[in-house]
Amino acid sequence: MPEQAIPVLTIDGPSGSGKGTISRQVAARLGWHYLDSGALYRAIGVAAGWADLDLDDAGALVRCTFDTEIGFREVPGGDLRVLVNGHDATDELRTETAGAAASAIAAIPEVRAALKDRQRAFRRAPGLVADGRDMGTVIFPDAPFKVFLTASAGERAERRYKQLKDKGVSVTIDGLLREILARDARDASRTVAPLRPAEDAVHIDTTGLGIDAVVARVLSIVTP
Ligand code: DC
Repeated sequence: MPEQAIPVLTIDGPSGSGKGTISRQVAARLGWHYLDSGALYRAIGVAAGWADLDLDDAGALVRCTFDTEIGFREVPGGDLRVLVNGHDATDELRTETAGAAASAIAAIPEVRAALKDRQRAFRRAPGLVADGRDMGTVIFPDAPFKVFLTASAGERAERRYKQLKDKGVSVTIDGLLREILARDARDASRTVAPLRPAEDAVHIDTTGLGIDAVVARVLSIVTP
């Protein structure tokens, strides 16, 4: 199948909008591949941390992007493990430190350019669900199906609070809300690929909606 004929569903939105959970479930239901593009930026953030790089040193971060090997391995049960330079970094990737590093690194144009082809390589038959910030605008602008997920900042902070509490991490909702608003502002205001919906994306506000309802709504716009 020529690459352009392989269908792509892009799911973009801010952190905590439910993108990850929804994208994985939709990909499983469709039997399509799944790209967690945020994990690539987080992986570079983790690798930069291991190498003790300064987050203000753009040149070093760009070199780190080229030098870092990132692998995804599916384990029984559908769980996805992320390998950074051969080490399983899945849990480290999800930390607030890795998220903040990823957000800073993602503002560097050369890093985004270096990751473009790696992301496009995920487009394989029978289809791809791509989760991120610029999937519908920059990486797969020709995708036939595009969704932009949102949720109120308060609800996103609450969801994150529950996730972290379940893991035994001690945080406050107010602190998380402040972090979410700061990250939103940084992701939306950067000059390269700022967070914004593609013109042809279907907007879904997930505030107050359960996962099943959102999955059903997303599936309804995909016509295989
Ligand atoms: O979706 P996430 O929280 O795992 O993403 C981590 C950071 O990476 C986020 O702050 C913005 C950045 N990111 C990006 O700039 N472009 C993407 N396609 C995905 C993530």
